[in-house]
Amino acid sequence: MPEVTTRPVVDQSVFKLSMRYLAGAVSVVTVGEGEERTGFTATSVSSLSADQPSVIVSLNRKSSSWPVVERYRRFCVNVLTADQQHIAQSFAGFDGRRGIERYQDAQWHSLSTGTSALKDALTVLDCELETVLNHHSHAILIGRVCAIETREDVLPLLYWRGGYRRLSGEAGIRA
Ligand SMILES: Cc1cc2nc3c(=O)[nH]c(=O)nc-3n(C[C@H](O)[C@H](O)[C@H](O)COP(=O)(O)O)c2cc1C
Repeated sequence: MPEVTTRPVVDQSVFKLSMRYLAGAVSVVTVGEGEERTGFTATSVSSLSADQPSVIVSLNRKSSSWPVVERYRRFCVNVLTADQQHIAQSFAGFDGRRGIERYQDAQWHSLSTGTSALKDALTVLDCELETVLNHHSHAILIGRVCAIETREDVLPLLYWRGGYRRLSGEAGIRA
């Protein structure tokens, strides 16, 4: 059997620098119910499949959200609008808030599944945790989307090169 090596082949700081150039939509992923609610800010949300509507999210297993996701087997992706940067900051833990305190400065409603959805999010995807793939420090969560809410005519919050950004409003070339 060949020896398996996990030694990085590129320098970690070079990789981090490179990832700063990857522009991403900003979401807060809400987990847990009632007083046990917490959540995290994420740019790692991606669509996985439309045939079986599903998304993937990468979660650092050191995060306080990880044991809650494991217990409840659900998560809810709330894609933020351009004016919801303060919610991103709270759920990233930058203002020192933990757990349910992160929900204070925004309005939420409970979905039939028990999950909290952000009122006025750009789009909300309520997910059942279908599969977890553990990879080194992170868990890749695969969620089966079981409910969706969307808002029209609002712009997304983006993250690029270490800062929050807005779309300029200029339409590019249509795909
Ligand atoms: C713009 C932005 C994007 C982030 N994306 C992710 C992500 O995709 N996955 C992740 O695990 N953490 C991500 N984080 C970090 C988590 O939001 C943060 O570590 C977590 O909320 C704090 O962990 P705690 O709940 O243990 O305090 C991101 C942070 C920011 C500011």
